[in-house]
Amino acid sequence: MIPYSRQTISFLDALYVARQVKFKSLTQGLQIKNFEEKVAKYVGARFAVAVSSGTAGLHLAHLALGQNNGSKVVTSPISFVASANSIIYAGQEPIFVDVDPDTGNISIEKLQEVIRMHQIKTVVPVHYAGFPCEMEKIYDICKKESIYIVEDAAHALGAQYSTGEKIGSCKYSDLTVFSFHPVKSITTGEGGIITTNNEDLYIKMIRLRSHGIERNDQPVQDEILGLTNGKRNAWYYEMLQLGFHYRLTEIQAALGVSQMRKIDKFIKKRRKVAQRYNKFLKKLSNLDVLKSSENMSGAFHLYPIKIKFDRITISKNDLMQELRKIGIMSQVHYIPIPLHPYYKNLGYTIDQLPHAIDFYYRILSIPIYPGLSILKQRKIIRSLNKLIG
Ligand SMILES: Cc1ncc(COP(=O)(O)O)c(C=O)c1O
Repeated sequence: MIPYSRQTISFLDALYVARQVKFKSLTQGLQIKNFEEKVAKYVGARFAVAVSSGTAGLHLAHLALGQNNGSKVVTSPISFVASANSIIYAGQEPIFVDVDPDTGNISIEKLQEVIRMHQIKTVVPVHYAGFPCEMEKIYDICKKESIYIVEDAAHALGAQYSTGEKIGSCKYSDLTVFSFHPVKSITTGEGGIITTNNEDLYIKMIRLRSHGIERNDQPVQDEILGLTNGKRNAWYYEMLQLGFHYRLTEIQAALGVSQMRKIDKFIKKRRKVAQRYNKFLKKLSNLDVLKSSENMSGAFHLYPIKIKFDRITISKNDLMQELRKIGIMSQVHYIPIPLHPYYKNLGYTIDQLPHAIDFYYRILSIPIYPGLSILKQRKIIRSLNKLIG
């Protein structure tokens, strides 16, 4: 079976993790710091905070920005539910804006419209499939209105802005959040990281990641409990606010450090796979390659194609079943978030999101990952040609 995506773990990755498990710390040790430094250096950000998932990272990002309960936060409907759920965890209100049909990223015009209509506090652009959003434009729009930007870069470690910097450098945002779920650019099993250039946000997130507890760095607030003869007590720690247990383990961080050695190789391979798809699939008349797929600055977490179902007789469900029968897995990214029953019950509708709906009906992600062989890719292209060509 060819999966739509899969992790790439080498024997050396496994050895490095085994060494951590057997001989080093399992939690709260040096490997987390090491991993954070490696990711921060790679993306070109001052700070990085490793967390237990991308979702946890998005939650902490909203908490660190400290907007009031009920604040309105814009995000994309074409995303995994975590992009919106994390806004609700922080007591705020997601507002969905329609997408650009060529990329699946939020539409700049629709963003401007929504900012005119509502008092928006934060924008969460999602780099869909690893293709960079138009961050310069989003930054200019948001800066004028003092709106914070949190990039949901779960798909986009290794991608670059059109100006050349890596996503995660936060050139156009306050915070950027990555996910290390197995099918992402690199994996820690489960995990995530937030990058920022803002020291104040960094300190807040470090504290929130671990129960809201301050251990060593800051002066104690309660000097009677915390000090003996003016010196900090060895056992002493203070909980200053309600935080969470969102720590990554040292074992996961070890896998992350080992995987980071290969990030450039992984992205290069993904881009090669995408180039081959672009070349052959563009010849098929019943599908469109996303415009963004031709932009090699993406991380190619996914390779979505837009199928012209109105011109062919096979349905999306039957197409997925037929592909499966011949050993090819595919997936739909994504069911628009407001269509999920939870969001419908909150009163969300898709009335203002015609492009997101059309995108959902047409889109299908076909396999892409660094280890996808040319032979397997040829089989995928041949099969698509036969079924919908
Ligand atoms: C766009 C997007 N945002 C956020 C997340 C959440 O990441 P995690 O699964 O690490 O919590 C995902 C996960 O797949 C995602 O695809």
